Amino acid sequence: MAIVKTKVGLLGCGGIVGGHRQGFDAVSDVCEVVAVAEPRAERHAFITDAFGPGVQIVSDYRDVLAMAEIEGVDIVLPHDLHMPATVAAAEAGKHVLVEKVMARNVWECDRMIDACEGCGVSLTVCHDRRYNSQWAALKEVVETGALGEIFFWKLDHNQDVLPPPGHWIRTYDGIGGGAIMSCLTHQIDALRWYGGEVASVSCMTKVIPERMEGEFLGIMNARMASGALAELSINWWTQSRSGPHALWYEMVQACGTLGEAYYQHGKGTFVRLHDVVDDAVRARFGDAALTGFVEVPNDGKSGHVGCIAEWVKALRGEPTEIRTSGRVCRGTVEVAEAAYLSDREKREIALPIESGPWIDRSDAEQIRKQFEADQSGPEQWNGGKL
Ligand SMILES: NC(=O)c1ccc[n+]([C@@H]2O[C@H](COP(=O)([O-])OP(=O)(O)OC[C@H]3O[C@@H](n4cnc5c(N)ncnc54)[C@H](O)[C@@H]3O)[C@@H](O)[C@H]2O)c1
Repeated sequence: MAIVKTKVGLLGCGGIVGGHRQGFDAVSDVCEVVAVAEPRAERHAFITDAFGPGVQIVSDYRDVLAMAEIEGVDIVLPHDLHMPATVAAAEAGKHVLVEKVMARNVWECDRMIDACEGCGVSLTVCHDRRYNSQWAALKEVVETGALGEIFFWKLDHNQDVLPPPGHWIRTYDGIGGGAIMSCLTHQIDALRWYGGEVASVSCMTKVIPERMEGEFLGIMNARMASGALAELSINWWTQSRSGPHALWYEMVQACGTLGEAYYQHGKGTFVRLHDVVDDAVRARFGDAALTGFVEVPNDGKSGHVGCIAEWVKALRGEPTEIRTSGRVCRGTVEVAEAAYLSDREKREIALPIESGPWIDRSDAEQIRKQFEADQSGPEQWNGGKL
């Protein structure tokens, strides 16, 4: 009997859809992208090439939501559209997969969660690192207990991001702040996945308005509920990732009382043991891990391929391992929002935080009031030290 394919729509078709295309290619026996909303005509040839000549192309995402045969939508839009598109999709009865970052602040996340739960549809965030086999290998190391009590996390992300003037990424309201909300949220989400919840953060940012309205550089310290400390940074103005003697693109380091492990983009995931208290750990990683780092094998699957495979299983009512529900990923946005609060108020911020609606930069009066409210706290800036 022929398999009935699950029909989905794509809302937005910009740069990252290359990764989503690989994901949908990998499940093409059970799922098809039947419609794509994308206003830029120069992307239409890519859409036909990626999803076949039968794919419907429309300009606005609402036109995809009106298509009855579509069960779920993959939202790959600028961040200021994540909440309105998710709420509209939920109201149209579509299950939602939304690219990171879930939304511009916790208030928007909560509107998305309420809409999806109220309409009986699922809400999944494409925080792809949680489905990437190399990142998952580090999670497995942590879960063996081989590292003992983890006391330090370090997560870095280096990129050279400079879209053309007027692009949403260069606008404060379009991106939801800057590089921290847009991109350090990968690291924040991974930190929460590996190391549990964040108790408090302090943060410093650097803005050069000619480059983009929000920060292109952000440095964040976190105190974890576990007692560990974490150091995270995003640098959107570096070419250190490529060329001879390159540094790294992304890295995660975990140091514990019994050992340490790291993931480095393009290199793999590695573990080294200082001491072994468990025979199973010794058997798993081998004696070589006592004298140097050993690689942790994995199947090298990309995060987008893994995430889309799990989402499609969920749409088809099959057993699935969704690691990034809206309820889980809201916490990642909350940490980033707390980091911005720390930067503005120049003090360490404990979580949870109170959140309110997004305030557009264009609303000068509200910004002024917010600024005055931000200055009213008794604490003094401590230079970002914990
Ligand atoms: N997981 C990752 O590693 C990763 C990497 C890059 C981007 N992203 C995320 O993917 C999302 C999109 O980023 P991008 O880099 O592809 O951006 P992009 O600017 O390349 O693409 C966004 C697209 O949305 C379209 N669009 C705008 N308004 C629309 C509307 N009303 N209806 C339909 N389409 C509309 C634009 O024309 C554009 O093509 C963001 O959430 C971003 O953070 C994730």
